[in-house]
Amino acid sequence: MKKRVLTGIKPTGYAHLGNYFGAIKPAIELSHNEDYDCYYFIADYHALTTLENKEEMQEYFYNIACTWLACGLDPAKVVFYRQSDIKEDFELNWILANVTPKGLMNRAHAYKAMVEKNENEGIDRDDGVNMGLYNYPILMAADILLFDTDLVPVGLDQKQHIEIARDIAHNFNVKYGKSLKGPKEYIDEDNKTLVGLDGRKMSKSYNNTIRLFTDEKTLKKSIMKIVTDSRLPGEPKDKDCTVNKLFKLFAEKEEAEKFENDLLNGLGWGDAKNRLFEVANKFIAPMREKFDYYMANKDEVDEILKEGALKAEKVAREVLSRVRQAIGTDR
Ligand code: TRP
Repeated sequence: MKKRVLTGIKPTGYAHLGNYFGAIKPAIELSHNEDYDCYYFIADYHALTTLENKEEMQEYFYNIACTWLACGLDPAKVVFYRQSDIKEDFELNWILANVTPKGLMNRAHAYKAMVEKNENEGIDRDDGVNMGLYNYPILMAADILLFDTDLVPVGLDQKQHIEIARDIAHNFNVKYGKSLKGPKEYIDEDNKTLVGLDGRKMSKSYNNTIRLFTDEKTLKKSIMKIVTDSRLPGEPKDKDCTVNKLFKLFAEKEEAEKFENDLLNGLGWGDAKNRLFEVANKFIAPMREKFDYYMANKDEVDEILKEGALKAEKVAREVLSRVRQAIGTDR
């Protein structure tokens, strides 16, 4: 039996290089492995906890959907869908809430971090916390358990959510008899985090990202903003610098070695950044072309996601029906 792999992608911003090398590329590679049956979805209802309005939702939703397709997600291989299309998810969410101890949610990282921040500022501990944020892990458990998922590829920051999903499945099974499969996280150990413009981890929350799909000029401008030290042309550069780290991601081995050598031999930052731009742009250009195509043909994207939802729904209905039988709400 193939193992079922499932992961959700939250549309809360524009896809950047950290997303690409850390999540998108490895997930697409996984989908080419015949041992796995992959379900990848856009977690639009999870994004509601941070999005401000409808325009943001639509902007980021299509940016993320088109990004996955442009990066090579094959809808014939991957069941690719939009979370909000799967109504069964929200029914399971409610059922699972009833086997989820409130204390478990009190300990969830995102909520706990908000409470700690409020306490440090001396304001009400639940200030700014809505129930969407508080219940986030339960909806995520529903996303996962609804598909009898074996493996969930995620970053380390999401590990606790998978443990919570496993706990919730266990609680359900103890109360109603074994109906739900306990998932495992799939954390790519050598999946190094990417450095951002300022040398810290590339992350939207640090505002140090390089957007994956923009026009060439904007890409170049971002690359020019990479923080470097003040060594002059002619002075040897540190091979662990951000420019070199990023260059390696895009270049073939030989080209990367040559670049590193040139840096050690005193290549100036301006020239180094220009060369980084060239190699990055060459790497991104064919994908960008596809991205622009999908962005200009959103109805095609909608169609792909609708077909994905039909496939996903079939599995979701089976699992939900099993769950309803277990709790006594089936007919
Ligand atoms: N919480 C995940 C994130 O912020 C997104 C997500 C939602 C998810 N549902 C999921 C990931 C189910 C894996 C499985 O990145």
